[in-house]
Amino acid sequence: MNQPIRVGEKVVLKIEALANSPDGIGKINNFVVFVPYVVPEDEVKVLITEVRKNFARGKLLSLIKPSNYRVKPICASFGECGGCHWQHIDYKKQLEYKDLLIKNAFSKIEAKIKPIIPAKKIFYYRNKSQFPVDNFNKKIGLYALKSHYVVDLKECNLVLNSINDVYREIKKYLEKVNYNILNLRHVVIRGSETQGSLLVVFVLKDENLEKVESLIKYIKQKFSFGSAKDCRYNENGNSFISILCNINDKDTNVILGDKTIKIYGDGILKEVLDGIEYNFSSLSFFQTNTEQTLILYRLIKSYINDNKDSIALDLYCGVGTVALFIADKFKEIIGVDEERSAISDARDNAKINNIKNCKFLYGKVEDILVKLIRDNMSVDTVILDPPRKGCNKDVLLNLRKLNVSNLIYVSCDIATLARDIYILIEEGFRVEEIQPIDMFPNTYHIETVVKMGKQGSKKIEKEKAKMK
Ligand SMILES: C[S@@+](CC[C@H](N)C(=O)[O-])C[C@H]1O[C@@H](n2cnc3c(N)ncnc32)[C@H](O)[C@@H]1O
Repeated sequence: MNQPIRVGEKVVLKIEALANSPDGIGKINNFVVFVPYVVPEDEVKVLITEVRKNFARGKLLSLIKPSNYRVKPICASFGECGGCHWQHIDYKKQLEYKDLLIKNAFSKIEAKIKPIIPAKKIFYYRNKSQFPVDNFNKKIGLYALKSHYVVDLKECNLVLNSINDVYREIKKYLEKVNYNILNLRHVVIRGSETQGSLLVVFVLKDENLEKVESLIKYIKQKFSFGSAKDCRYNENGNSFISILCNINDKDTNVILGDKTIKIYGDGILKEVLDGIEYNFSSLSFFQTNTEQTLILYRLIKSYINDNKDSIALDLYCGVGTVALFIADKFKEIIGVDEERSAISDARDNAKINNIKNCKFLYGKVEDILVKLIRDNMSVDTVILDPPRKGCNKDVLLNLRKLNVSNLIYVSCDIATLARDIYILIEEGFRVEEIQPIDMFPNTYHIETVVKMGKQGSKKIEKEKAKMK
């Protein structure tokens, strides 16, 4: 295709749709132009910043005619900060678009796709944020879209109020000392929605903790008795805020380093969902929208029949959340995760909740599945909840060798989800239902649950024999 435009050109576009990315889509003579921070039906003036073989990218210069679906973003930095992408789109339209993106991703299969379950809270829902610090330019905030440029923020409208309370105090302190804590790279703040406690991690370039000492003292004084708005003081006498330092001297995109030092508090956060207590430490994964997580876990449970004689696998189990939530449905559940702290938290969580039929294994799902197949294990149900990049292909190919009948695939990325579901269909599974849940309002991200059953194949027995 001949590219009808060049870098540096200014063009007028009508936005036709939203992509599965922060971008909207417009066209010039059928040539696609991706532009972030626009709304379907906007007429916009755009500066072309990149031209590839089949598409171009542009930057919004001005709005010629705004779409009826535009709303005023509540964040003054919207459009500059990369933290959220859809704050300027009416929430109903956001949901419609998420439904459409799912429909497009699964256009090749016949499946019951249910409308997305909306979120009750579209702001102040995230229980975790990682704020980069730019000491040179004296800023703390979030990165601009696809960049390491720090956008200075007063607060973030997506995170819990308690996180903002601490964030504002940290920012105030850094401004007072003129950003002189030169080894401070990131501030990670996590909050418990159901319990109200907080965990702050100062990510440092080196182990020189003295530099951050007075900031820690300041935050400890302000928050140890629960002065943040939506926090309760923990009556058990445990500290309500935990403060940790993490050392990361590597020059990569990974925020947390390998060494974490507890400075104050127990370093643990707790959430309680339907009476089950989940404790997790600073490095362990926990879903970022606690309120919607309860809906997600209840949905997963509703997809499971009582299978008291059978075994289930919770693959990519984090701190054991799903396994413990559905434990009463099975004889045994085996959870697997490659993060050591998550497995240690999962084992503690089983003890705390007095759940005896869950076992948690540390390691890569890829490796542990092979061991289970060698042990001739037969598994009735598998829950898959991989990170954004989806499952390794071998994991998908090995599932049928365990005689799996029911599969529940939870994903936060529809592109890798669709890729993996097509492989699973080839492997003899069939899609029964697709249910998206809005865990990430005001962003393009979609959480989706796919329920699958099996449809027999002789291929599996042959493959299994080959592995022995
Ligand atoms: C999206 S989280 C899911 C956690 C859990 N299901 C929950 O709801 O809290 C993905 C988890 O997969 C783990 N993980 C990523 N790659 C892995 C792999 N190859 N093998 C085992 N665990 C992995 C991460 O440590 C993380 O805890």
